Amino acid sequence: MCGIVGYIGSQRAYDILIQGLKRLEYRGYDSAGVALVDDAGHLTVHKSMGKVANLEQVAAAGPLDGSLGIAHTRWATHGEPSDLNAHPHVSQSGMIALVHNGTIENYAVLKKVLIEHGYEFKSETDTEVLVQLIEYIKLTSSCSLLDAVREALLQVEGAYAIAVVEQNDPDNLIVARKSSPLVIGVGDGETFIASDATPIVGYTDKVIYLKDNEIALLRRNEPVQILSLTDNKPSTINIQKLRLSLAQLEKGGYDTFMLKEIFEQPSTLRDCLRGRIVDKANRVVLSGVELNKDKFLNAERITLVACGTSWHAALIGKRLIQDFCKMPVEVEYASEFRYGNPVLNEKDIVISISQSGETADTLAAIQLAREKGAFVYGICNVVGASIPRNTDSGTYIHVGPEIGVASTKAFTGQVTVLTLLALSVGHLRGAIDQKTLHEVASALEKMPATIEKALKVDAEVQKLSRIFTYAHNFLYLGRGYNYPTALEGALKLKEISYIHAEGYPAAEMKHGPIALIDHEMPSVIIAPSDSLYDKIISNVQQVKSRGGAVVAIISKGNKAMSEIADFCIEIPEVPECLTPLVASIPLQLLAYYIAVNKGKDVDQPRNLAKSVTVE
Ligand code: F6R
Repeated sequence: MCGIVGYIGSQRAYDILIQGLKRLEYRGYDSAGVALVDDAGHLTVHKSMGKVANLEQVAAAGPLDGSLGIAHTRWATHGEPSDLNAHPHVSQSGMIALVHNGTIENYAVLKKVLIEHGYEFKSETDTEVLVQLIEYIKLTSSCSLLDAVREALLQVEGAYAIAVVEQNDPDNLIVARKSSPLVIGVGDGETFIASDATPIVGYTDKVIYLKDNEIALLRRNEPVQILSLTDNKPSTINIQKLRLSLAQLEKGGYDTFMLKEIFEQPSTLRDCLRGRIVDKANRVVLSGVELNKDKFLNAERITLVACGTSWHAALIGKRLIQDFCKMPVEVEYASEFRYGNPVLNEKDIVISISQSGETADTLAAIQLAREKGAFVYGICNVVGASIPRNTDSGTYIHVGPEIGVASTKAFTGQVTVLTLLALSVGHLRGAIDQKTLHEVASALEKMPATIEKALKVDAEVQKLSRIFTYAHNFLYLGRGYNYPTALEGALKLKEISYIHAEGYPAAEMKHGPIALIDHEMPSVIIAPSDSLYDKIISNVQQVKSRGGAVVAIISKGNKAMSEIADFCIEIPEVPECLTPLVASIPLQLLAYYIAVNKGKDVDQPRNLAKSVTVE
């Protein structure tokens, strides 16, 4: 979703801002823009629909001077994607420029008042209302820009991360946040700001994560000042070390980030597992669980909240926790949970799962759960993101930056951490026997090597993808642990190839979707040799007898399915609870190659955002 970059220092801001916008492209956007303030106090704005490359073409006419600037990639919420609606927005007198992530809920009321005061609006955005409001306050109360921004934000309802510059003041950059992320990079005589740390990497490894309701004044050659928006008192400044490298943000020889991330999974899972399976696979250690043993011992129920792919991981987590901890588990879409009046108390544990750690609905869900007294545990990838900072405890999946919009390595990292969590809590509660724990933990420890084997189907899947590139619909079927795998496989295909695909519990098919099956509707069946294998065979026969083509994902060497299905892809044999990890590999590859065959932009599929920071 929208991305912000800003710079104040001694270098040409434009170059840093454009590079920063390119690093934020993965978040998803439809237009981009930049505002520069030169040393003489002139403000220049360049904006363009489409990619950052278009912006560069538009901006090439210049001027591009100035060592202060703000820039933005916009993902439309209020008003269609257009040059006019792109950020930065400039106040009526041309004095102030602003970029904004988030949504201003009371913008219509504020706009009406400003129109009554003679303000005219060029765009359909909520953001333009904010910049006009700041100017109106500044002019009518003759206050500083900082005070005007603060006063305006106190009148705003909604979510925001903003950056503001003023044309007459080339030494001043103001940023603020509420429910939308903003990172400040502290360099040597220069300061960077961005929606996430990716644009800052390579310039400095010192970062400050702005907190909700904070406003920061970044003055040239002066230390960062942070104030509370509510009482204007100085906040404590916590400079943290950024652990991200440039290599992690590059494609590393692959055509796309998505392919790199699929092939990285052996090593990302190695990082995810490091130090967590100990004593010859007889014990699992998650510090978040160890430090909160009482909570996990006394809990009466676990609720998993998440969105999208993370929600699919949560469904697998539910089965793992039920099987190994023998306790009640619920799974909720964060967006439903937050408005569903959930009944919670201090005996509840709510586990949020999020790659980005910034998903607005998941963040709101955990805030609600905490208000209701539940213990909130976060499973997250991005270190320092809003969700881990708003949970009581948690575990990072440590799979490194995921740049491809379609989640792959984060999904396998989430499932891995959920498996570790279920094993460790199950052990703590005496709900799992040592033999089972050892068997699953040993297989999990070997998972990086197992995934490496699973990836060997690459060429075969690529060949298979050509047969199905022009199908209009797909059905993905799975049972038990692999019903969520089917959902995830279908989501991957939809997201990047724009082919309609439905994931379904295989046995439910006969209650409706079977009507759709004909020779034009292929089904992908996830059928490893598990406890439901015999059942799924009969589901496949039901598809076959209606003329549907079947691609089956089967355990290595399984003969029965290969006699019925049209195409089989073999995956290494693992304990049943770990089959989603290996089965998701060919599904990721299938979606990937079908999308590539169709010429789609797999890393930045249309309409999608990597970090969904609005409701
Ligand atoms: C799908 C995908 C999304 C995310 C969802 C939640 O490939 O990436 O469905 O899983 O937007 O995002 P996070 O995990 O960042 O909360």
